[in-house]
Amino acid sequence: MSQSLVQRQFGSNAQAYVHSVVHAQGQSLKRMLELAAPQPDWLALDVAPGGGHSALAIAGQARLVIGLDLTLAMLQAARAYATGLGVQNVLWVQGDGGELPFPAASFDLVTCRVALHHFPAQGAAIADWARVLRPGGRLVLVDNISPDDPAAAAYVNAFEKLRDPSHGALQSLDTLAGFCRDTGLEVLHQERLYKPMNFQQWMERMAVGAGDRVRLTEMLWSSPPAVRAFLDPQGSGAATTFSLHEGIILAAKAATAPVL
Ligand SMILES: C[S@@+](CC[C@H](N)C(=O)[O-])C[C@H]1O[C@@H](n2cnc3c(N)ncnc32)[C@H](O)[C@@H]1O
Repeated sequence: MSQSLVQRQFGSNAQAYVHSVVHAQGQSLKRMLELAAPQPDWLALDVAPGGGHSALAIAGQARLVIGLDLTLAMLQAARAYATGLGVQNVLWVQGDGGELPFPAASFDLVTCRVALHHFPAQGAAIADWARVLRPGGRLVLVDNISPDDPAAAAYVNAFEKLRDPSHGALQSLDTLAGFCRDTGLEVLHQERLYKPMNFQQWMERMAVGAGDRVRLTEMLWSSPPAVRAFLDPQGSGAATTFSLHEGIILAAKAATAPVL
Protein backbone atom coordinates (compact mmCIF):
# COMPACT_ATOMS: atom_id res chain seq x y z
CA MET A 1 0.00 0.00 0.00
CA SER A 2 2.64 2.53 1.02
CA GLN A 3 4.73 1.54 -2.02
CA SER A 4 1.91 2.16 -4.49
CA LEU A 5 1.18 5.52 -2.84
CA VAL A 6 4.85 6.51 -3.22
CA GLN A 7 4.85 5.46 -6.87
CA ARG A 8 1.65 7.36 -7.56
CA GLN A 9 2.75 10.56 -5.82
CA PHE A 10 6.27 10.68 -7.22
CA GLY A 11 5.47 9.10 -10.58
CA SER A 12 3.14 11.93 -11.53
CA ASN A 13 5.43 14.67 -10.17
CA ALA A 14 8.85 13.41 -11.31
CA GLN A 15 9.88 16.47 -13.34
CA ALA A 16 9.09 18.77 -10.42
CA TYR A 17 11.73 16.93 -8.37
CA VAL A 18 14.35 17.10 -11.14
CA HIS A 19 13.85 20.88 -11.28
CA SER A 20 13.35 21.49 -7.54
CA VAL A 21 15.91 24.03 -6.33
CA VAL A 22 15.62 22.68 -2.77
CA HIS A 23 16.63 19.24 -3.97
CA ALA A 24 19.19 20.33 -6.59
CA GLN A 25 20.99 22.94 -4.48
CA GLY A 26 19.92 22.51 -0.86
CA GLN A 27 22.64 22.92 1.75
CA SER A 28 22.29 19.29 2.83
CA LEU A 29 23.55 18.09 -0.57
CA LYS A 30 26.89 19.78 0.06
CA ARG A 31 27.07 18.48 3.65
CA MET A 32 26.15 14.95 2.53
CA LEU A 33 29.03 15.00 0.05
CA GLU A 34 31.51 16.44 2.57
CA LEU A 35 30.65 13.79 5.16
CA ALA A 36 30.56 10.94 2.64
CA ALA A 37 33.98 11.94 1.21
CA PRO A 38 33.69 9.43 -1.66
CA GLN A 39 36.97 8.05 -3.00
CA PRO A 40 37.70 7.58 -6.73
CA ASP A 41 37.65 3.76 -6.47
CA TRP A 42 34.40 3.53 -4.43
CA LEU A 43 31.20 1.76 -5.32
CA ALA A 44 28.31 3.66 -3.75
CA LEU A 45 24.60 3.05 -3.30
CA ASP A 46 22.24 6.03 -3.24
CA VAL A 47 18.89 4.86 -1.91
CA ALA A 48 15.90 6.77 -3.35
CA PRO A 49 17.70 9.23 -5.66
CA GLY A 50 14.42 10.81 -6.76
CA GLY A 51 15.27 13.46 -9.38
CA GLY A 52 18.87 12.24 -9.21
CA HIS A 53 20.63 15.02 -7.32
CA SER A 54 22.01 12.94 -4.45
CA ALA A 55 23.31 10.16 -6.75
CA LEU A 56 24.84 12.69 -9.14
CA ALA A 57 26.64 14.51 -6.33
CA ILE A 58 28.30 11.25 -5.20
CA ALA A 59 29.00 10.21 -8.81
CA GLY A 60 31.19 13.29 -9.24
CA GLN A 61 33.75 11.71 -6.88
CA ALA A 62 33.12 7.93 -6.78
CA ARG A 63 33.84 5.25 -9.39
CA LEU A 64 30.27 4.03 -9.75
CA VAL A 65 26.94 4.81 -8.08
CA ILE A 66 23.84 2.65 -8.06
CA GLY A 67 20.74 4.83 -7.66
CA LEU A 68 17.91 2.59 -6.46
CA ASP A 69 14.40 4.02 -6.39
CA LEU A 70 10.91 2.56 -6.12
CA THR A 71 9.41 4.83 -8.80
CA LEU A 72 10.13 4.09 -12.46
CA ALA A 73 9.11 7.55 -13.71
CA MET A 74 11.54 9.13 -11.24
CA LEU A 75 14.37 6.89 -12.47
CA GLN A 76 13.58 7.73 -16.08
CA ALA A 77 13.55 11.46 -15.32
CA ALA A 78 16.80 11.20 -13.32
CA ARG A 79 18.50 9.16 -16.05
CA ALA A 80 17.51 11.68 -18.75
CA TYR A 81 18.80 14.52 -16.56
CA ALA A 82 22.11 12.66 -15.94
CA THR A 83 22.51 11.89 -19.66
CA GLY A 84 21.99 15.59 -20.44
CA LEU A 85 24.82 16.40 -18.02
CA GLY A 86 27.05 13.76 -19.63
CA VAL A 87 27.22 11.64 -16.46
CA GLN A 88 27.88 7.97 -17.24
CA ASN A 89 28.80 6.40 -13.90
CA VAL A 90 25.33 6.03 -12.36
CA LEU A 91 23.22 2.92 -12.84
CA TRP A 92 19.52 3.64 -12.26
CA VAL A 93 17.82 0.59 -10.74
CA GLN A 94 14.20 0.09 -9.73
CA GLY A 95 13.74 -1.54 -6.34
CA ASP A 96 12.69 -1.21 -2.72
CA GLY A 97 15.29 0.55 -0.61
CA GLY A 98 13.95 -1.31 2.42
CA GLU A 99 14.74 -4.71 0.92
CA LEU A 100 17.89 -4.39 -1.14
CA PRO A 101 18.64 -6.87 -3.95
CA PHE A 102 22.38 -6.84 -3.16
CA PRO A 103 24.67 -9.23 -1.26
CA ALA A 104 26.25 -8.28 2.07
CA ALA A 105 29.33 -6.07 2.10
CA SER A 106 28.86 -4.86 -1.50
CA PHE A 107 29.29 -1.10 -1.07
CA ASP A 108 31.89 1.35 0.26
CA LEU A 109 29.22 3.99 0.85
CA VAL A 110 25.44 4.14 1.26
CA THR A 111 23.59 7.46 1.10
CA CYS A 112 19.92 8.34 1.40
CA ARG A 113 18.68 11.96 1.26
CA VAL A 114 15.15 13.14 2.05
CA ALA A 115 13.38 9.82 1.50
CA LEU A 116 13.46 7.65 4.64
CA HIS A 117 10.27 9.26 5.97
CA HIS A 118 8.37 7.45 3.18
CA PHE A 119 9.58 4.01 4.32
CA PRO A 120 7.12 1.92 6.37
CA ALA A 121 9.88 0.20 8.42
CA GLN A 122 12.65 2.74 8.85
CA GLY A 123 14.84 0.91 11.37
CA ALA A 124 14.71 -2.28 9.28
CA ALA A 125 15.65 -0.33 6.13
CA ILE A 126 18.72 1.13 7.85
CA ALA A 127 19.66 -2.37 9.05
CA ASP A 128 19.57 -3.52 5.43
CA TRP A 129 21.78 -0.59 4.39
CA ALA A 130 24.25 -1.58 7.12
CA ARG A 131 24.19 -5.16 5.83
CA VAL A 132 25.32 -4.14 2.32
CA LEU A 133 28.13 -1.89 3.60
CA ARG A 134 31.60 -3.42 3.61
CA PRO A 135 33.44 -3.45 6.95
CA GLY A 136 34.71 0.12 7.41
CA GLY A 137 32.10 1.45 4.96
CA ARG A 138 30.07 4.57 5.74
CA LEU A 139 26.46 5.64 5.72
CA VAL A 140 25.29 9.24 5.29
CA LEU A 141 21.62 9.65 6.08
CA VAL A 142 19.83 12.95 5.46
CA ASP A 143 16.15 13.33 6.20
CA ASN A 144 13.62 15.89 7.30
CA ILE A 145 13.18 15.57 11.05
CA SER A 146 10.32 16.15 13.49
CA PRO A 147 10.30 18.34 16.60
CA ASP A 148 11.45 16.40 19.68
CA ASP A 149 8.10 16.98 21.45
CA PRO A 150 5.72 14.09 20.50
CA ALA A 151 2.57 16.26 20.21
CA ALA A 152 4.36 18.78 17.98
CA ALA A 153 5.82 15.90 15.96
CA ALA A 154 2.32 14.44 15.42
CA TYR A 155 1.05 17.82 14.18
CA VAL A 156 3.97 18.26 11.75
CA ASN A 157 3.50 14.70 10.44
CA ALA A 158 -0.24 15.34 9.88
CA PHE A 159 0.65 18.58 8.04
CA GLU A 160 3.08 16.66 5.81
CA LYS A 161 0.60 13.84 5.20
CA LEU A 162 -2.12 16.25 4.07
CA ARG A 163 0.28 17.59 1.46
CA ASP A 164 1.55 14.12 0.43
CA PRO A 165 -0.45 10.96 1.22
CA SER A 166 2.71 8.88 0.68
CA HIS A 167 4.35 10.63 3.65
CA GLY A 168 5.09 8.08 6.39
CA ALA A 169 6.66 9.65 9.47
CA LEU A 170 9.38 12.13 10.28
CA GLN A 171 11.51 11.08 13.25
CA SER A 172 13.52 13.16 15.69
CA LEU A 173 17.25 13.33 15.00
CA ASP A 174 17.99 11.23 18.09
CA THR A 175 15.55 8.56 16.93
CA LEU A 176 17.32 8.35 13.55
CA ALA A 177 20.70 8.10 15.28
CA GLY A 178 19.21 5.35 17.50
CA PHE A 179 18.09 3.40 14.42
CA CYS A 180 21.69 3.51 13.17
CA ARG A 181 23.14 2.40 16.51
CA ASP A 182 20.59 -0.42 16.77
CA THR A 183 22.05 -1.94 13.58
CA GLY A 184 25.57 -1.91 15.08
CA LEU A 185 26.74 1.13 13.12
CA GLU A 186 28.82 3.70 14.99
CA VAL A 187 27.37 7.21 14.76
CA LEU A 188 30.37 9.47 14.09
CA HIS A 189 28.53 12.75 13.63
CA GLN A 190 25.02 14.26 13.66
CA GLU A 191 23.79 17.75 12.89
CA ARG A 192 20.67 19.77 12.07
CA LEU A 193 20.03 22.19 9.23
CA TYR A 194 17.19 24.67 8.82
CA LYS A 195 15.63 24.43 5.39
CA PRO A 196 13.61 27.50 4.38
CA MET A 197 10.79 26.49 2.02
CA ASN A 198 8.51 28.47 -0.24
CA PHE A 199 5.07 27.30 0.92
CA GLN A 200 3.37 27.54 -2.48
CA GLN A 201 6.14 25.71 -4.35
CA TRP A 202 6.17 23.02 -1.64
CA MET A 203 2.45 22.38 -2.28
CA GLU A 204 2.82 22.61 -6.07
CA ARG A 205 5.60 19.98 -6.12
CA MET A 206 3.02 17.44 -4.92
CA ALA A 207 0.16 18.92 -7.00
CA VAL A 208 -1.96 19.61 -3.89
CA GLY A 209 -5.61 20.38 -4.74
CA ALA A 210 -7.33 23.68 -3.93
CA GLY A 211 -9.22 22.42 -0.85
CA ASP A 212 -6.14 20.92 0.77
CA ARG A 213 -4.16 24.11 0.05
CA VAL A 214 -6.68 26.00 2.15
CA ARG A 215 -6.47 23.39 4.93
CA LEU A 216 -2.65 23.41 4.87
CA THR A 217 -2.63 27.20 5.06
CA GLU A 218 -4.92 27.03 8.11
CA MET A 219 -2.73 24.37 9.71
CA LEU A 220 0.41 26.46 9.10
CA TRP A 221 -0.91 29.70 10.58
CA SER A 222 -3.04 28.32 13.40
CA SER A 223 -0.50 25.78 14.66
CA PRO A 224 0.14 25.42 18.41
CA PRO A 225 3.08 27.48 19.76
CA ALA A 226 5.65 24.63 19.73
CA VAL A 227 4.80 23.83 16.09
CA ARG A 228 4.70 27.49 15.12
CA ALA A 229 8.20 27.96 16.53
CA PHE A 230 9.36 24.91 14.56
CA LEU A 231 7.70 25.73 11.19
CA ASP A 232 8.30 29.48 11.60
CA PRO A 233 5.84 30.75 8.95
CA GLN A 234 6.68 34.15 7.45
CA GLY A 235 5.36 36.44 4.72
CA SER A 236 2.10 36.19 2.81
CA GLY A 237 0.61 35.00 -0.49
CA ALA A 238 3.05 33.50 -3.00
CA ALA A 239 5.95 34.77 -0.85
CA THR A 240 4.93 32.73 2.24
CA THR A 241 7.83 30.73 3.62
CA PHE A 242 8.22 28.21 6.43
CA SER A 243 11.03 26.02 7.75
CA LEU A 244 11.60 22.34 7.51
CA HIS A 245 14.45 20.88 9.53
CA GLU A 246 16.92 18.32 8.22
CA GLY A 247 18.97 15.87 10.23
CA ILE A 248 22.27 14.57 8.89
CA ILE A 249 24.00 11.51 10.27
CA LEU A 250 27.37 10.03 9.42
CA ALA A 251 27.72 6.44 10.62
CA ALA A 252 30.30 3.76 9.97
CA LYS A 253 30.44 -0.02 10.03
CA ALA A 254 33.24 -1.43 12.17
CA ALA A 255 36.31 -2.25 10.11
CA THR A 256 36.35 -5.74 11.60
CA ALA A 257 32.59 -6.38 11.31
CA PRO A 258 31.68 -9.94 10.26
CA VAL A 259 29.99 -10.24 6.86
CA LEU A 260 26.54 -11.71 7.60
C1 LIG B 1 12.27 13.52 -2.35
S1 LIG B 1 12.72 12.21 -3.38
C2 LIG B 1 14.44 11.96 -3.02
C3 LIG B 1 15.32 13.11 -3.33
C4 LIG B 1 16.77 12.80 -3.67
N1 LIG B 1 17.38 11.80 -2.82
C5 LIG B 1 17.59 14.08 -3.68
O1 LIG B 1 18.50 14.21 -2.86
O2 LIG B 1 17.29 14.96 -4.53
C6 LIG B 1 12.00 10.80 -2.56
C7 LIG B 1 12.18 9.51 -3.37
O3 LIG B 1 12.02 8.40 -2.48
C8 LIG B 1 11.59 7.33 -3.27
N2 LIG B 1 11.18 6.24 -2.37
C9 LIG B 1 10.22 6.29 -1.41
N3 LIG B 1 10.13 5.10 -0.79
C10 LIG B 1 11.07 4.29 -1.34
C11 LIG B 1 11.48 2.94 -1.12
N4 LIG B 1 10.89 2.16 -0.20
N5 LIG B 1 12.50 2.45 -1.86
C12 LIG B 1 13.11 3.22 -2.79
N6 LIG B 1 12.75 4.49 -3.07
C13 LIG B 1 11.73 5.03 -2.35
C14 LIG B 1 10.50 7.96 -4.11
O4 LIG B 1 10.18 7.16 -5.23
C15 LIG B 1 11.16 9.29 -4.49
O5 LIG B 1 11.81 9.20 -5.73
